[in-house]
Amino acid sequence: MCDGYDSFAENSFLAHVDDLEQKYMQFPECGIITAQPAFDKPCSKSTETSESEIIATDGNLTEVRTRDYCHSPKTLSLQENVTIEPGDDLLYDVPCSQALYLEKTEDSTSDLNKPSAKESYPLPSHQNLNEIPVEQPQEKKKLSPKSTESDPSRRRSLKDRLKSAMTGNAKAQTPKFSKRKQLKEAILSEEINVAKRTMESSSDDLGPFYSLPSKVRDLFVQYKGIKKLYDWQHTCLTLTCLQQRKNLIYSLPTSGGKTLVAEILMLQELLCRQKSVLMILPYVAIVQEKISSLSSFGVELGFHVEEYAGSKGRFPPIKRRGKKSLYIATIEKAHGLVNSLIEDGRINELGLVVVDELHMIGEGSRGAILEITLAKILYTSKTTQIIGMSATLNNVEELQEFLKADYYTSKFRPVELKEYLKINDTIYEVDIKAEKGYTFSRLLKCKYSDNLKKMDPDHLVALVTEVIPNYSCLVFCPTKKNCENVADMICKFLNKDYLKHREKEKCDFLKNLKNVSNGSLCPVLKRTIPFGVAYHHSGLTNDERKILEEAYSTGVLCLLTCTSTLAAGVNLPARRVILRAPYIATQFLKRNQYQQMIGRAGRAGIDTVGESILILQEKDKHLVLDLVNSPLENCYSHLGQEITKGIQSLLLSLIGLKIARNLEGIYDFMCGTFFGIQQKSLSEEKSLWEISQKALEGLIEKGLLQRQSVCKNGEESQCDLQITKLGKASLKGTLDLAYCDILYKDLKKGLEGLVLESYLHLIYLTTPYDMVSQCRPDWMIYLSRFNYLSSAEQKVAAIVGVSESFITKKASGQAIKKEVDKNIVNRLYLSFILYALLKETNVWSVSEKFNMSRGYVQALLSGAASFSSCVLHFCEELEEFWVYRALLTELTKKLSYCVKADLVPLMEVTGVLESRAKQLYDAGYKTVAHLANADPEVLIRTIDHLSRRQAKQIVSSAKMLLNEKAEALQEEVEDLLRPPPDTPGTVAPSSKNDELTQDVPH
Ligand SMILES: Nc1ncnc2c1ncn2[C@@H]1O[C@H](COP(=O)(O)OP(=O)(O)OP(=O)(O)O)[C@@H](O)[C@H]1O
Ligand SMILES: [Mg+2]
Repeated sequence: MCDGYDSFAENSFLAHVDDLEQKYMQFPECGIITAQPAFDKPCSKSTETSESEIIATDGNLTEVRTRDYCHSPKTLSLQENVTIEPGDDLLYDVPCSQALYLEKTEDSTSDLNKPSAKESYPLPSHQNLNEIPVEQPQEKKKLSPKSTESDPSRRRSLKDRLKSAMTGNAKAQTPKFSKRKQLKEAILSEEINVAKRTMESSSDDLGPFYSLPSKVRDLFVQYKGIKKLYDWQHTCLTLTCLQQRKNLIYSLPTSGGKTLVAEILMLQELLCRQKSVLMILPYVAIVQEKISSLSSFGVELGFHVEEYAGSKGRFPPIKRRGKKSLYIATIEKAHGLVNSLIEDGRINELGLVVVDELHMIGEGSRGAILEITLAKILYTSKTTQIIGMSATLNNVEELQEFLKADYYTSKFRPVELKEYLKINDTIYEVDIKAEKGYTFSRLLKCKYSDNLKKMDPDHLVALVTEVIPNYSCLVFCPTKKNCENVADMICKFLNKDYLKHREKEKCDFLKNLKNVSNGSLCPVLKRTIPFGVAYHHSGLTNDERKILEEAYSTGVLCLLTCTSTLAAGVNLPARRVILRAPYIATQFLKRNQYQQMIGRAGRAGIDTVGESILILQEKDKHLVLDLVNSPLENCYSHLGQEITKGIQSLLLSLIGLKIARNLEGIYDFMCGTFFGIQQKSLSEEKSLWEISQKALEGLIEKGLLQRQSVCKNGEESQCDLQITKLGKASLKGTLDLAYCDILYKDLKKGLEGLVLESYLHLIYLTTPYDMVSQCRPDWMIYLSRFNYLSSAEQKVAAIVGVSESFITKKASGQAIKKEVDKNIVNRLYLSFILYALLKETNVWSVSEKFNMSRGYVQALLSGAASFSSCVLHFCEELEEFWVYRALLTELTKKLSYCVKADLVPLMEVTGVLESRAKQLYDAGYKTVAHLANADPEVLIRTIDHLSRRQAKQIVSSAKMLLNEKAEALQEEVEDLLRPPPDTPGTVAPSSKNDELTQDVPH
């Protein structure tokens, strides 16, 4: 077992090294190899460069790097043992890590040209450490003796690194290493060490790139095309408060480039401080996008990227001894993760928590969960830094008080945004200085036929044709249906020339779209895509949405009609953004929502200007002034409003996690919440104490908490609180406490006669309660398609109390004597849909059969997958439900990947959805290992409609997943083989010894 697993780990190491090699071969301009020209520049010729100049001269990265080391006395002071003497060999001018590298490349320049450098240096497994070439530079003379010999820590780190590589190698059957590869690994590790020391030694000193290895800068150029930081980004990153590790909120307009600052801070934490990082993002799709884009950083820089979204993510997370983890999580999953870390006493592992779209703290139950998560971190870990960012914050002071954070803001936007309003055929420019808030801009020139006027009273066709097809345009619509209608309507009046624009690519795209949809194609999209137009809303499947976004990003599609969901976080900018009406459904737009939508206008690096046009009717004119001119809305805590998902769930976990023991403790915690802070300023009717007390009583009534008298000195005194078994189960299942009671009853009833001839009964039990109320069963459609209930369906229906005759009567509209509880009937209907999905594994055919949107059916499926894992955790805490445990483990997997079993392993890779998994499988990539070892160039050639960027992301994500699995196994083996310290008759090893043996499996 050991052998097999060890060679597995070794492979991943090789893959890592291979990847580095590939990268340097492909991108010589970004690699260490190009450091060489820097040697030609004598140090004395460069001028002293200040930090800000370094940023400004980023165009020549290598030069900057060299100067950095050459002249900055600050930097030099960090490399304690490197002395510089004028007139010495030029090699003194480069970081010692690079000198070491160059020495070796000189030594082996011919190897660089060998096609199979990989196989040139087979190291026999018995080779001892001293024989590793890198430890014995043959041309030592060339280097400053101090730079290589008198820095023991550097030597040790190199040695350690190679030692562990060798250990892995020794276990492999056919060990093959390249000297160059080892060197590259060593150099990176060396740079990280330098950066780490920089961080520790002085807070003013910056390493090559904000205390990070210069490689990080190269990666930003390579993967994100970011060559130079904006001034504000530099200012923000060098704020004193950040250097003092204080919490920070920063706020900039949309597209201001907030993400980059957060990413640099996260890398500093992972690489220099060697702590794990949690990044909280609002939606699953955004988490997945981030995983895909940061996996390559993880693979190249040596940290884990772990997905906590949907049904993915492990509680508690695997404890890593080596590389640190970047957890990228949705709000709900972040909460689960933090709870599990607190429970295990590991919360201090989190060095940094980053919250994107911080204003979401004021939005409904998700806002309450975000608040709870942050409040718990603040209360339980004094060493975890919190960074929040947003484009739409108003009451910052309250948020600052809550997060104990400093604040940074700037109005910077890389591309100017011009705001317009359209009333009838006049366009006005928003101008806060003007009396009305806007000034006349122009009259819309358009010749509309009578027919067109009738069909398009808002002149949408005229407005979009001013920009498309050469520029992109987004049209926000109030409803999903309206998106489809508007897309269709616009295409009816578009000139035939639009069909010719990128015709071949659109044709290919349509084929691809049909492919991802199992051969089906939405008739609206079929009509609009040839014009470069599509709609985008939650009725689409994830696959469809993903490839539509891709086609829009690359300009194949030039116009998307969309709902407000597109505004939040997804990076799909446009030259022009049109708001079809100032409404979302029937609600007048809020200032924040308006700001987020118009913020999509203006692409950094592509457009020179962005414009937004809000279409208004005369009747709404008076409301608009507020919309465009008033300050952003404050965000308010929802902790108190959301009883079962908010305050009660918080109090239950405070007792359950032993953060508080009684009302006093709870009150102390509550004072520090955002709710507590706002409560103070709002001085509502009830005090915080009373509110907490009431919530506690609710929990006691529900049987989730119980009072326990504590005896002190023989007297009953303080009354502590204790979590009950049901409370613990609800906590573990992260249930909405409104449903814990009914779930318990349903599961209990299920035990009396569990129908196991199909999955249906189990599915029924894991159908999410919160989706039940929106469901409108149409039994007529159901029966007309399926004719009758299958025997499994009959049995389950009977057990939950719905008879077949009830269903037939419902379908035919007959009167029913005894109505059944609507919640049960709806839930049963939803479980029939899920059951059909598991059988057919085809969202399209099922949504057609049930006459529901494919997007809804897919959302139901992912909701059921998440809830099923919640029910599983619930059952794990209650002995009487032991039988469900094995069954639900299997069911959760089935619901999570409702596809043919063969595709499941491929879909574990972030960003690989069903259609892509099918393509890959058919092309022979059947496992994660196949993907991790794939050559992106070959993938592009063999897989249709796969861009180079996607191919690289798939390979990086697969490598990341494989590494993670390998390391988890490795650590498990080490734990198994480590003698327990309390083994009778043995002396417990000291903690120092323990550390030393960590890298070496026994
Ligand atoms: N220094 C830079 N140089 C060039 N492009 C940059 C730079 N910083 C960020 N960008 C790019 O600008 C775009 C917008 O950045 P980002 O997504 O971070 O904006 P944001 O501030 O988070 O906006 P939002 O509030 O809309 O989420 C991205 O495409 C990003 O790659
Ligand atoms: Mg952002």
